[in-house]
Parts: sequence; C-alpha cells; structure tokens
Amino acid sequence: MSKLDNPLGLLAAILVRVPLIFKTILLHAIRMSPVTGKQDLRTELTVAIIRSFLVFSSPVGKQQRDSMRDPGIKGPMWVSKVTFPKPEEDVQDAVIKAIEDLKKGDETYNIPGVTPLEAEWTGYRSGVHKNAPQPDISEEAKYEELKKEAKEDMVILYLHGGAYFLCDPCTHRPLVAQLSKRTSARVLSVRYRLAPQNPFPAALVDALTAYLALVSPPPGSLHEPVAPNKIIVSGDSAGGNLCLVLLQTLLTLRRVCPTVRFHGRDVPIELPAGLAISSPWCDITRSMPSVHHNSVYDFLSPPTQDPETAYRPLAVPEDDVWPVKPPRVDLYTNASALLHPLVSPVAGRDEIWKGAPPVFISMGEEGLTDEGLVVARKMHRVGVPVIVEQFEGMPHVFGQVFLGTPSSRRFLDDTAQFCRDVMAGKITADTPTPAKITFIGYKLQSVREIPLETAVPLTDEEVDAVLEKGKQWRLEGEKLLEREWVEKAKL
Ligand SMILES: *[C@@H]1O[C@H](CO)[C@@H](O)[C@H](O)[C@H]1NC(C)=O
Repeated sequence: MSKLDNPLGLLAAILVRVPLIFKTILLHAIRMSPVTGKQDLRTELTVAIIRSFLVFSSPVGKQQRDSMRDPGIKGPMWVSKVTFPKPEEDVQDAVIKAIEDLKKGDETYNIPGVTPLEAEWTGYRSGVHKNAPQPDISEEAKYEELKKEAKEDMVILYLHGGAYFLCDPCTHRPLVAQLSKRTSARVLSVRYRLAPQNPFPAALVDALTAYLALVSPPPGSLHEPVAPNKIIVSGDSAGGNLCLVLLQTLLTLRRVCPTVRFHGRDVPIELPAGLAISSPWCDITRSMPSVHHNSVYDFLSPPTQDPETAYRPLAVPEDDVWPVKPPRVDLYTNASALLHPLVSPVAGRDEIWKGAPPVFISMGEEGLTDEGLVVARKMHRVGVPVIVEQFEGMPHVFGQVFLGTPSSRRFLDDTAQFCRDVMAGKITADTPTPAKITFIGYKLQSVREIPLETAVPLTDEEVDAVLEKGKQWRLEGEKLLEREWVEKAKL
C-alpha cells in the first residue's frame, strides 16, 4: 500500500478503481447488487475498495512493514508506552506444557523463547481536537493523565488483529481509545511477536507474559497489581483467536501448572473476569462454509487455491522473511499443528472450556461467522455464559473499519455494556445464558434471536471432517514444498 504515501500514488490508486466504484454505485442504485437490502452504499463501496487492495502481491516483509506504519498519537487518546523486561523461561515452559497437554498427535512447533515485551497503555482523552498532539510529557505523566479519565479499576488487555502477521497496537489505537471511553477502563494493548518470523506459539507466550505482567507488575511497570477478576481480555480477528487460546492456556495451566515463576515471584494462575472479542479467527485452515457463502459481504476473499491440486502458499516475491526454511505453507504455523486447539480453537473439545468466565462475541455476516459460532456452541454446551451478537450484512471487523458509524457505535456500546455487567457481577461464570444468538438486522432496524445449535448448519462431526480435510490438504502441500526444497539444496 506504499503507493498511498504520495498524493500522485493515491490519485493513481483511485483512478484504477474508478470503474469498480462506478459499477458498485450503479448496481446499488438499481438494486441489482448482490448485497441489496443488507449493505448501504457506503458499506458496499468500502468493502469493494478494501477487497481490491487486499491482493497480496508484495513480499511478506513489505506487507508487514506497510501494515505497521505508525500514524502518530493525536486526537482523543492517551497513549503511554511501556516495556516489560524479559521474564524467566518459565512463561514459555508453561505455554509448552499447555500445548503438550492439549496435543492430539504429531504436531510440531518452534520453541519461541522469551523476550522483553512492549505495550501501550491506552485511554480516552476528552475535550481535544481530532488532530491535537499528545503533550510532550514523560510516559509516567501520560499514564497518570490516562488514569484520571479511565477511573474504573477494570483493565482491558487488548490483542490486536492482523492475521498474526500484520498490524500493531499503533494501528488499533482509535478503536481501543473508544473502548476505554465507553468502559472507563485502562487498556493495555500488546505488541506481541508476529509471524512468519515468530510462528506459533510466540504470540501466545507474549500474551501470557502480558497477562502475568498485569497481575504481578515486573520492574519498570507503571501500574499497580491488577486482580484477575478486574481483567477483561479483548481482541479482534487474529487477536480474538489469541484471546481464546490465552483463555484455554490459563484453563489448562490451572490443571497442569497452577503457578508460574514471573520476575522472581510464583504467580498463581487465575482466570480473567471475561472475554470480549470481535470477528474471532478460530479456524486457521479457513475451511468452514461461511468463508465462501458470506464472501459477498466481506472484504476477506476465500482461499483461492484449487482443492484438486496441491496446496501452495500465496505466490509473493521472496524476501528475507518468507518463505522460511524449511518451508511452511502457512505463515503462522507448521501445517501439522493447524488443528491444535491453541492454534485453531474451533478444533478443541467442548470440555476445554469448562469453568471459563463469561464470553462476549460479536461478528458480522462474514467469512469467519461459522467458526466463531461453533466455538460459542461448544462453550455454551459446557455451561459457559456466552453472548453472541451478529450484525446483518456487515464485514469482518466492521467495528474498526466503520468507526463512527451507527453499527460500529452499537458494537462498541454492547461490548462496553458486557464489560460493565461483568465488573458489576451481573454476569458471572454461573449466569446461565440462553442458547441463542442475537441477530441485528440491516441498519440496526430489527433484532431477532437464532438458536445457537442451528446457527451453523453443520454437526460437530461435519465440522471436524471439514477441518481435517483443510489440514490434510495443507500438510500434503507442505510435504511437497519440503521435498522441492531438499532437492534444490542438493543441486
Ligand atoms: C516445524 O517445527 C519444527 C520444530 O519442532 C521444525 O524443526 C520443523 O522443521 C518445522 N517445519 C515443518 C514444515 O514441519
């Protein structure tokens, strides 16, 4: 997207899209668009334009750098940067224990190590112009300012989205500041390690490090210890995945490793108060039917490879980060681990979720719908309070993409309401929730309930079969790549 850096590049990028824009407006006007009655013109145009930009043709390293460009800190937000020093290896070892405990077969994965972890305390800053610069004061002073407006003792641990290889806390600041505004919570937004340089489970080790840092502040922290029952874990897309797998890790550690050594203290593993996630990516194989059925409303296109031939990773020019050696087909994980529940939470057994705190999931009518609903169904079956809201016709992470519009406001309001209800004890781990999802109609004009059991038209056995097929296809593709790589090395 670097073409957009200069005005001429931007003009060129718009000009090549003029036919697409005209076609979209025309079909919309004569009500011949496939999304008629489900998306207004602004939504439809935005989705079409984002989709046209998401043609990944540049090297992975460049895509990643472009996606992480820091827009600067300005307008209604306080951001105070913090670095937590490198913890003991025990954090990594705890994650490995959880992975091994939940293993299904011969999954392989890299040993990620532990590193210092950067994060941003983020809050809302009221009464300033949208371009007002943040005052030039110390990080401590910014944190104190932030706390004056984020008065609640609730803390939101935020894990940003970006397919596990893109984006950064800096790209999610406006969304996170809005969450803080509506909850009066401080938000800790984490710069977890990204793939492909740092594949599974590096991000999970960092998420656990951030959680432990909240509970038991390491040297150099700005905050006081936060009780786990004051923490809401939140995230979107791949960040939603990371929230779910962090929760599974905590649930598992309570069985297999109930305290973890962290900066010289033995920290007991306790559960957070709740999870509030949006458009969670629960199936890294992207095999569920909605990936295809809902693609018309979404900017995320279905995987393009032909299932009749060997699976191939996206054909992008080689650089120093991708392909990796030995080659993988997936940026984030070895193919053998694709269906490990800490990689694809959709593939976990229902019982994994037993004892989990309340979970709020919001989503559009998007490609990732089925996988999120299957996870909700599994949770509900073992008694986890789970609240699901689906917004008709809305694409992936619409709350962020359409920040400031009525649907995004509704999404933020409902997310914040959940967080406040959990803090107030109105929703607890023992609160029964109906086996239904709330379906919010076009332009927020209707609300109806859909039974959770039938919201996804597949049985558990069918889900497992579809997932297994998606994994096998990639596994065979990976074996082929590896053979080619070995052959090439011999020459
Ligand atoms: C996967 O993980 C292991 C580490 O156990 C690594 O050595 C291996 O080569 C990785 N890649 C593939 C494609 O299996």
